[in-house]
Amino acid sequence: MVIIIILLMFLPTGFTQNTIKYSNFTYQERSSVQANLTEAQPHILSISRYTDNSDTAVVRITRVNYYDYFTKNYCYEQRLLLRVIQSNGSVNEINYENAAEIQDINYCYIGNSSHNPIKIYPLFDQYILVTYTHATNTSDTTTYVDRGMVFDWNGNILSKLEFGPSYLYPGTNWYPIEFIVNNITPKDGFLRLSAVNGNETDSFKWSQYS
Ligand SMILES: *[C@@H]1O[C@H](CO)[C@@H](O)[C@H](O)[C@H]1NC(C)=O
Ligand SMILES: *[C@@H]1O[C@H](CO)[C@@H](O)[C@H](O)[C@H]1NC(C)=O
Ligand SMILES: *[C@@H]1O[C@H](CO)[C@@H](O)[C@H](O)[C@H]1NC(C)=O
Ligand SMILES: *[C@@H]1O[C@H](CO)[C@@H](O)[C@H](O)[C@H]1NC(C)=O
Ligand SMILES: *[C@@H]1O[C@H](CO)[C@@H](O)[C@H](O)[C@H]1NC(C)=O
Ligand SMILES: *[C@@H]1O[C@H](CO)[C@@H](O)[C@H](O)[C@H]1NC(C)=O
Repeated sequence: MVIIIILLMFLPTGFTQNTIKYSNFTYQERSSVQANLTEAQPHILSISRYTDNSDTAVVRITRVNYYDYFTKNYCYEQRLLLRVIQSNGSVNEINYENAAEIQDINYCYIGNSSHNPIKIYPLFDQYILVTYTHATNTSDTTTYVDRGMVFDWNGNILSKLEFGPSYLYPGTNWYPIEFIVNNITPKDGFLRLSAVNGNETDSFKWSQYS
């Protein structure tokens, strides 16, 4: 099975101009060998861009694995597939398949509003931050801890981060909430805002990483 993804890349030239430059390219995605994914087409879950290089996009693709009728959410193939698309049509593939680190809990949408536990943040140069949740016991949400990894375009892991306990709401329902923004000078790092459980009231926590 050969699957072709055609993406149009929009390159805004400024708010005062109406002209939008775009170009086409074709990229062939190899078929998947996981159990439930027969005939499933890959589709795009997120597209993000570098703040210091807006012509380069980081696209997360995935295939539907199954629909969870209990949580009423989709679950996706249990590996992380990123495609770095450069403006000249070059594509770098990052395929991360370690299910002991990014566990199956991360590959289903969660909650009432289809919240995605895995988030992708292009940092600068060839660096991409991926955040997810790791559990020592996936049946016990009090063991859930938010983590991050920095990948380069060759799929090497350059850094591992531990952010702290994942947010539970209400009570014991896992519902991670985070917001990450690059420093205005992306090479200097990023800020992370996250919801945290307190002993009386919940609150937000700011952290700075460099
Ligand atoms: C992009 O592809 C579409 C469909 O094949 C075609 O109609 C269009 O002319 C192409 N645009 C460019 C800029 O090549
Ligand atoms: C296949 O789908 C079932 C639910 O239909 C799920 O429990 C199982 O984990 C899936 N298998 C894989 C390898 O993802
Ligand atoms: C696109 O640009 C990158 C980096 O500048 C280069 O490594 C790659 O070979 C180029 N690809 C094509 C198809 O020109
Ligand atoms: C989801 O919806 C149920 C019932 O509609 C509600 O009790 C629960 O608090 C909601 N959960 C979240 C995380 O909003
Ligand atoms: C994992 O958590 C569940 C639910 O709290 C508990 O029943 C089970 O014993 C735990 N397993 C281990 C290995 O701690
Ligand atoms: C609960 O929070 C209060 C106020 O932040 C703090 O003084 C107290 O030590 C906390 N108690 C526990 C058991 O963590």
